[in-house]
Amino acid sequence: MIQEAAAYISSKSSVQPEVGLILGSGLGVLADLIEDGVSIPYEEIPHFPVSTVEGHEGELLLGTIKGRPVVMMKGRFHMYEGYGPEVTAFPVRVMKELGVSSLLVTNAAGGVNTEFEPSDLMLITDHLNLTGTNPLIGPNDAALGVRFPDMSEAYSLRLRKIAKNTAKARGFKLKKGVYAGLLGPTYETPAEIVMLRVLGADAVGMSTVSEVIVARHAGIEVLGITCITNMASGILDQPLSHDEVMETAELVREKFLGLVVDLIPQM
Ligand code: HPA
Repeated sequence: MIQEAAAYISSKSSVQPEVGLILGSGLGVLADLIEDGVSIPYEEIPHFPVSTVEGHEGELLLGTIKGRPVVMMKGRFHMYEGYGPEVTAFPVRVMKELGVSSLLVTNAAGGVNTEFEPSDLMLITDHLNLTGTNPLIGPNDAALGVRFPDMSEAYSLRLRKIAKNTAKARGFKLKKGVYAGLLGPTYETPAEIVMLRVLGADAVGMSTVSEVIVARHAGIEVLGITCITNMASGILDQPLSHDEVMETAELVREKFLGLVVDLIPQM
């Protein structure tokens, strides 16, 4: 399945990607910055799932950014859509097959850490997989990775340093913290946010962890950046909405894109 998907993609573009990008809510416009890009709708790719959520598009792009060959997912798959964790992470395996050695994942999340504010960008230092499942469950294919992958540096320290310095050079400071990945699709209750804070989370979202687990299994180096689109449930006296998430993502877009574009050649 992985080989078939990769072979189809390779038949559409001569680009041999080194860097993979998975773009969260509102960041799909990065696709416009790809040079000589080829776009492949997910539904065309053998064995690819199709994403179903408003604000998440479904196409794979290959091309170069600042001279670096990249493969970019515009729109990702979430477990709340009904996909198993291994399905949400399938594209990462395909990226590996295409030659990717480093992966930049971005997402939108609620701020659990009360020092954060909406529009902050947070470097993910680590994650809490609170989805109750794992994409590597089942027989292990040794060709893909080891049975018990090390997760002690899931988010590469080398890439984190680069991201920190790049943000600094661009005139802003990245927040940093632990991303808690939950199933969704409900936003959390205030009690759940208190629990997450006790557990050590700084941000909470509904994506990323399964992709990162599969990337680490495959030996891909990972950089994760979160856009804090809202304060998590119960922190402010107001309800949460997808509209608020999309509005903030839109506000931060230029800053986020600038950072991502500067990071790609360094990854
Ligand atoms: N919770 C979970 N996922 C999210 C949030 C949130 O507050 N904001 C954006 N994605």
